[in-house]
Amino acid sequence: MMFVGNINRNILYIGNAALLSFGLLFSSILFAEEPIQPIKEPTPENLEMVELGKMLFFDPRLSKSGWISCNSCHNLSMGGTDNIRTSIGHKWQQGPINAPTVLNSSMNLAQFWDGRAKDLKAQAGGPIANPGEMAFTHKLAIDVLNSIPQYRNLFKKIFGSNQASIDMVTDAIAAFEETLVTPNSRFDKWLKGDKKIMSQTELAGYKLFKESGCVSCHYGSAVGGASFQKLGVVASYKTESKAEGRKGVTGRETDRFVFKVPTLRNIELTYPYFHDGAVATLEEAVDKMGRLQLGIDFSTEENSKIVAFLKTLTGEQPSFKLPILPPSSNKTPRPVPFN
Ligand code: HEC
Ligand code: HEC
Repeated sequence: MMFVGNINRNILYIGNAALLSFGLLFSSILFAEEPIQPIKEPTPENLEMVELGKMLFFDPRLSKSGWISCNSCHNLSMGGTDNIRTSIGHKWQQGPINAPTVLNSSMNLAQFWDGRAKDLKAQAGGPIANPGEMAFTHKLAIDVLNSIPQYRNLFKKIFGSNQASIDMVTDAIAAFEETLVTPNSRFDKWLKGDKKIMSQTELAGYKLFKESGCVSCHYGSAVGGASFQKLGVVASYKTESKAEGRKGVTGRETDRFVFKVPTLRNIELTYPYFHDGAVATLEEAVDKMGRLQLGIDFSTEENSKIVAFLKTLTGEQPSFKLPILPPSSNKTPRPVPFN
């Protein structure tokens, strides 16, 4: 099916652009057979909304302390994560679970490790009101935004109403997050036909990744994010974390320890690994995956080949001007950092 669909697409291409060479046709048929597809450049529809979403993503005034923004835990200078085992929230509280990256999160079948939010919009309201994260209420967050004239003007321009609502806030944040994709990794360039860009070691790693069965869970453009799977298929994973995975959502005992398969895009940047953040290095993550998911004990050499391949999945990081946020007004509710 996939093969036929692809030929049709190529015939269309030729119809549209007669210049397309046979070489390209050939290579695009080839990568359609690969279990991983290149990431497409983002095509945002509403640039003003994206810009507003970016401001909100960076604005710590959406938290009770006035100190924690989305970027505190999803640092876009560090692969969209905080690089600590579990996040630190309001009043230095230690969170229960590792922060996944926001990069390429629009490709996930659902959001959170257990998939409890159906999409980015549904997710974005969560952290603001989570007592262990930003510890605010939606009402207070909206009061803050409505007390700042420049924000009101932006909401008026984009949504036609000079009163912000949580619905608008989550729309804008989701629109910004949809632009946080990382195309043009070395592996994607290889998929698109630049066959010299990968080293022999990296290619051997990709072959192992496919042939050992990693791709049965880590597939698609995000190299993950497309299914829920059990952690500990062959041998069980030992952890102090209380997270139960999908069981928390479905209530079914069989869903205990079933998690959304994480994306492996930019995996070199998003350490530490696993939902409990207990796995410090990529080598250890690959070793554990081999043993727990596939019953394979990789040699040191095989392990380092797979790690070399995984590092080719680091793409171009989103780059933009840091948003300059409008000042609070005399009416803006003041931050409450210490209680
Ligand atoms: C205190 C740290 C913290 C803050 C602040 C925070 N997050 Fe998160 N975020 C997390 C953690 C931890 C998770 C994983 C929670 C889970 O799966 O149960 C997460 C999950 C996510 C996910 C899901 C990604 C995936 O692959 O499932 C997205 C998207 C996200 N956050 C966006 C945001 C946005 C937008 C904001 C600001 C409104 C925000 N976060 C604020 C820590 C934080
Ligand atoms: C049966 C499905 C399955 C297979 C097969 C599988 N994985 Fe995973 N992988 C997962 C799940 C689920 C997680 C999340 C683990 C957790 O929640 O703690 C994960 C996590 C990871 C992580 C850590 C990602 C992060 O951000 O924390 C890496 C790296 C990884 N896998 C690589 C591999 C490699 C390499 C292979 C092949 C040797 C492989 N996986 C095979 C399902 C699978």
